Amino acid sequence: MSHHNVIIDNVCYSYPDGKKALNGVNFEIYHGESVAVVGSNGAGKSTLLLSMVGILFPDSGEIRIGNVPLDKKTLPSIRQRIGFTFQNPDHQLFSTTVYDDVAFGPRNYKLSENEVKKRVERALEIVGASHLSDRQTYKLSGGEKRSVSIACVLSMEPDILLMDEPSSNLDPKSRRRLINILKEFKHTKIIATHDLDMVLDVCERTIVIGEGRVLADGKSDEILRNEELLDRCGLEKPFVLQGCPVCSKYKQMT
Ligand SMILES: Nc1ncnc2c1ncn2[C@@H]1O[C@H](COP(=O)(O)OP(=O)(O)OP(=O)(O)O)[C@@H](O)[C@H]1O
Ligand SMILES: [Mg+2]
Repeated sequence: MSHHNVIIDNVCYSYPDGKKALNGVNFEIYHGESVAVVGSNGAGKSTLLLSMVGILFPDSGEIRIGNVPLDKKTLPSIRQRIGFTFQNPDHQLFSTTVYDDVAFGPRNYKLSENEVKKRVERALEIVGASHLSDRQTYKLSGGEKRSVSIACVLSMEPDILLMDEPSSNLDPKSRRRLINILKEFKHTKIIATHDLDMVLDVCERTIVIGEGRVLADGKSDEILRNEELLDRCGLEKPFVLQGCPVCSKYKQMT
């Protein structure tokens, strides 16, 4: 099944103020892959993801989703296949109630209200947010908004999941729930994150971005153990690979 491959071909993008955020990004993601996009603050991760859903359009280069070049004409059909969560959930949630926000995608597909209801209830249950259904979205806490924004994407049943910092603001139990959701999602996943422990759990491949370029691309297990590379890219080993400081101190004393 090659129809959901994502190809980023020499993509460059500068913001209107002249800030060059992407400087010739190249990679291909194959159907069913689970890929982390990591890099220091300002590396270009969000700009890259925003370009992959046609919120920003590259100045040069091309993005192809399932061999279809992403442009203004193809955008509506490509959007139907990609579920995207913004780094800031406030950019995603705009309806009055949580229910209506999660129903927005399925309603856009012109599904019956009965089917919409089923999808909303299922998505909210998966993220553990059924109790928020009737709440006003703008009154939710940061972590609650995050969970609801993930439900918004799940209710669309997308072919490709594109998430920008999905674990930020989540409490440990909600984060663990997110990790399980991501593990169960069998289609393509592309996740921009600083949560390198989650990457080890969820993504077999990691792409490191720095100053709008790909600095490394390979197996997560190798990249996240490469201290020299991580240091050069402003990153640190995942906690789980750092060893417990208390245990190592105890070892020195005995
Ligand atoms: N709207 C904007 N206008 C001008 N420059 C911007 C804009 N948004 C982002 N930038 C700049 O583009 C570069 C890439 O930003 P981007 O948000 O893609 O980084 P990021 O890797 O997602 O960082 P973070 O880890 O902090 O989320 C940064 O230098 C940033 O300051
Ligand atoms: Mg970002």
